[in-house]
Amino acid sequence: MTTYEPEPWRIKMVEPIRATTRAHRERAIRAAGWNPCLLRAEDVHIDLFTDSGTNAMSDRQWSALMRGDEAYAGARSFYVLEQAVREHYGYPHVVPVHQGRGGEAILSRCLLGPGTHVPGNMYFPTTRAHQELNGATFHDVIVDEAHDPVSEHPFKGDVDLDKLRALVEEVGADAIPCVSVAATVNMAGGQPISVGNLTAVCELAHAHGIPVFLDAARAVENAWFVKQREPGWGDKSVAEILHALCAPTDGAVVSAKKDGLANIGGWVGLRDADLADRVRAEALLYEGLHTYGGMAGRDMEAIAQGIAESVDEEHIRSRVAQVEYLGARLRNAGVPVVRPFGGHCVCVDAAATLPHIPRGQFPGQTLAAALYVVGGVRGVERGGVSAGRDPRTGDNRTPALELLRLAVPRRVYTRCHIDHVADSVIKVHQEREEITSGLVFSHEPPVLRFFQARFAPAGGESIFGRS
Ligand code: F0G
Repeated sequence: MTTYEPEPWRIKMVEPIRATTRAHRERAIRAAGWNPCLLRAEDVHIDLFTDSGTNAMSDRQWSALMRGDEAYAGARSFYVLEQAVREHYGYPHVVPVHQGRGGEAILSRCLLGPGTHVPGNMYFPTTRAHQELNGATFHDVIVDEAHDPVSEHPFKGDVDLDKLRALVEEVGADAIPCVSVAATVNMAGGQPISVGNLTAVCELAHAHGIPVFLDAARAVENAWFVKQREPGWGDKSVAEILHALCAPTDGAVVSAKKDGLANIGGWVGLRDADLADRVRAEALLYEGLHTYGGMAGRDMEAIAQGIAESVDEEHIRSRVAQVEYLGARLRNAGVPVVRPFGGHCVCVDAAATLPHIPRGQFPGQTLAAALYVVGGVRGVERGGVSAGRDPRTGDNRTPALELLRLAVPRRVYTRCHIDHVADSVIKVHQEREEITSGLVFSHEPPVLRFFQARFAPAGGESIFGRS
């Protein structure tokens, strides 16, 4: 059984949240087209939709806000952020962006074009969407274990070097402008990549003249897992391991809304001065001047302070332990969950929970809606809806993993809240036979459809047989 030590913080300010009745939630989810993303947040009791931008800032971050320099050009706060990134991630060139996908859009515009290919460890929807929008084809070269929810592989974010090698041989290094690797891998359930594997990926790619860019939104959580699991790293600090992860890479695209403990923002870190100039030029058009990139000066101050706090060992231990506690409660109650538990989330295997719902009726989306109705808890589908359609064929993709993701915001919820979540998921699991219908699209947006899609129960009025 996992331990749950006291959190290394106490609460200085509170934000009221409210429980609602099941009847209220049934009305709300219908009005939201059975998509929890379209609910009003005030209709949600415990919100595990995402860990992105939902973190609680510390007293030091709030006081850092007051130091924000709002100069249009050359704000002091930019240099504070630049220094924090250089110190903790080691990239000499830092370009601020309004959030992660802003950086993804810019880097994709700079590097990719029609007919190019991008290998990566699984995919993230916004990252792949920008790669595809710029004409590239994404190739998943993650280890097979990542697609197996019950595999206990300690580094399910690792790249299968044979798959990467085979792709280079098949399409040629010239057609691969970059490798795009994430630490941790969100869509696999927050699974880490080992330092050894990432270093080997960089060696292989560099031998063919291909740069490697890291999605480092949750690289601190990744570093924590390296410390626990990768031989030779147990004595190193999380800060040192973070450096080791970034060291062999050519740059990083980062959403500061995750590990960075901020509510908004992001940055691109680069080693190559020429590429940095091109990225700054694109940032100017799409984000803002290269010393604010769509953020206020105070946002950059909050991120700089958040980066420093993110590598604190007490913080990261407690953060991951809370996720693990939720996972252990579910596993012990017989709920099928992705193993090992991830850094930022616990993922329920929706296909295993609802085997009677066909994949074409989106078991993950159905389970997300059911959990909201039963417990007032909001999670997000990570399966067929999120995977979208193949841009060439127009067919629905059917990923191996069909999940309901419960992402835990940092420093926000107490153990009682987490227990409520666990009790609700366990109840849904115990009463899963009552979920008799899946969902079909009533409105399907062309890109990143999971955010704005609307659904209708496939079998009538409701997903629940008895209501
Ligand atoms: N990369 C990863 C691995 C992410 O998880 C996200 C966002 C992004 C990039 C994009 O960053 O939101 O700042 O533009 N993930 C959120 C989530 C939305 O809920 O997983 P962004």
